[in-house]
Amino acid sequence: MKKYLVTGGAGFIGRNFISYLFKKYDRAVKVINLDKLTYAGNPDNMLEFKDRPEFEFVKGDICDAALVEKIMPGIDIVVNFAAESHVDRSIGSPDDFIKTDIFGAFVLLEAARKNNVEKFIQISTDEVYGSIIKGSFKETDTLEPSSPYSASKAGADRLAYSYFVTFQLPVIITRCSNNFGPFQYPEKLISLFVTNAIENKTLPIYGKGENVRDWIYVLDHCDAIDFLIQAGENGQIYNIGGGNERTNLEITDLILETLNKPAGLKKYVGDRPGHDFRYSVDTEKLRRLGWTPKHEFTEAMEETIEWYNQNSWWWKKIKSGDFLKYYKQQYQTEL
Ligand code: NAD
Ligand code: TYD
Repeated sequence: MKKYLVTGGAGFIGRNFISYLFKKYDRAVKVINLDKLTYAGNPDNMLEFKDRPEFEFVKGDICDAALVEKIMPGIDIVVNFAAESHVDRSIGSPDDFIKTDIFGAFVLLEAARKNNVEKFIQISTDEVYGSIIKGSFKETDTLEPSSPYSASKAGADRLAYSYFVTFQLPVIITRCSNNFGPFQYPEKLISLFVTNAIENKTLPIYGKGENVRDWIYVLDHCDAIDFLIQAGENGQIYNIGGGNERTNLEITDLILETLNKPAGLKKYVGDRPGHDFRYSVDTEKLRRLGWTPKHEFTEAMEETIEWYNQNSWWWKKIKSGDFLKYYKQQYQTEL
């Protein structure tokens, strides 16, 4: 019986990871989810597993040292997903990114060290490397984060590493590419564009739409994390990627085609300040250990689009109230 502390498990990837754990290990795992329920944390994301006896939800902040120290004793594995995660919001108001992504990670690392946890997984991101025009970043490449989001993630990434070197805390750092799938807060490219297109609303493309991201299905990301908990080496960094590089325009066209919506929904808007042109990670190190993604990109996209089609109750609730204010401010237009 392994006891996990998952932070940020009411958000997109964290909730998919908890769901993955219960599907795979059933009663052989216990999970505590520590989540502050920010705008991105959603109790609806926990409906699938909230009543399981092996699951406990603690509403709280990873920056709250007293709370974290209370939860940590008896935990075997910490997986730190909790973060402010949206680049555009980090440009408008970086404060919470610095607090949660850096200081919050520090609080978790300290408590994990004092309690001798068996494994600490720091969920970092491919964005810590910055943009790359040609080729792909290796784990040993220099970090050149360019947004307050990626810079704060880089801070936590290096802090986690320092706890391995200095205190021998069994840390593993993962740097994954862009995720897509069910339960993604509808402010990110794919979840926003799919839900806008379903409602025949315009799809705001930054700049010329030529920026490139590597997309991975969220359950492949979860599978890779689980694989690294078993097979990864402490103190190591692992890139995780789907091997599906697409321009934003290619993604937009795929969404419109799949939903049978007109190209006229595309709307070019001003570019994101400091917009990274391309992210690409070399995943050879992880592949050499024996892991590869299991989901084919187009099929996973079709399933994802179908999920948003079938679950409008989930995103329509979100895309009201404060979200409308955010949208108006971000895109200078009503949704
Ligand atoms: P998300 O924004 O959907 O979820 C973040 C969750 O963290 C929310 O439930 C929120 O309530 C919680 N949270 C925020 N601040 C908190 C705090 N101070 N204390 C406790 N909980 C707090 O994010 P996501 O897309 O699921 O990303 C999860 C992690 O994966 C992040 O660390 C992100 O940097 C990393 N990551 C994301 C992607 C991606 O494509 N989404 C890619 C690589 C890495
Ligand atoms: P996003 O989903 O915010 O992820 P990230 O910037 O962290 O990679 O954006 C993915 C790409 O889509 C990025 O190049 C910015 C672009 N984008 C748009 O063109 N329009 C939008 O409304 C959003 C949210 C993103």
